[in-house]
Amino acid sequence: MTGQISASMMCSDLTHLKQTIQIFEEEGIEYLHIDVMDGEFVPNFGLGVDYIKGLREITDIPLDLHLMIRNPEYKLQWIGIRESDIVSIHYESTYQVQRALDWLSPFGCKRFLAINPATPIYVLEEVLDYIDGINLLMVNPGFAGQKIVASTIKKAGRLYKFLEERGKKDIVIEVDGNITPENGNILKQYGAGIFVAGTSSVFQGDASQFAENINRLRDALK
Ligand code: DX5
Ligand code: ZN
Repeated sequence: MTGQISASMMCSDLTHLKQTIQIFEEEGIEYLHIDVMDGEFVPNFGLGVDYIKGLREITDIPLDLHLMIRNPEYKLQWIGIRESDIVSIHYESTYQVQRALDWLSPFGCKRFLAINPATPIYVLEEVLDYIDGINLLMVNPGFAGQKIVASTIKKAGRLYKFLEERGKKDIVIEVDGNITPENGNILKQYGAGIFVAGTSSVFQGDASQFAENINRLRDALK
């Protein structure tokens, strides 16, 4: 299966939002990656409730909501989650990971657990029955344009094996941060299925180059 693309909207130019979305629709972009940041879990503020509402008015592309917020379980109903969306909560963002996953369930969305570069794979052991995917952070989250944490590439390979050994190959691996076509190609071979595309790929240059950038990334993810 070819890799799916989740375009990282924090990298987009707000003054050309409609044009950007139109290109993404024409090119069949699978998800729009929305980095929701609270200034506590990560040292930055990010896309919020009103932005999400506005985006829903101009497109039906499903959202891939990456919640980089503390105690996300109490804030889920603010967001307007749809069944076709992916929602990632962070393992490190709450003491009640199971509660957060349980409370996500009624929304009918795909439930992903995100883990930071230094968080070991074994923390996933007890939640494998409650998740549809894992968002593997390849950078420390909060900012676009960072360089990949080298150890995360091998970690992706180990994660695939970890899932295979437990009969959980249907759990999707998403990779987020510094996904160049080259990194994406390696990670695809290591079993990743969804690729967050930011300044390292799709958002290079201006909107006139996006279609070409998407094609280049798609070729690398075949
Ligand atoms: C991390 C964010 C960004 C995103 C941007 O949660 O989602 O880092 O990956 O893409 P790059 O890293 O290519 O600028
Ligand atoms: Zn993200």
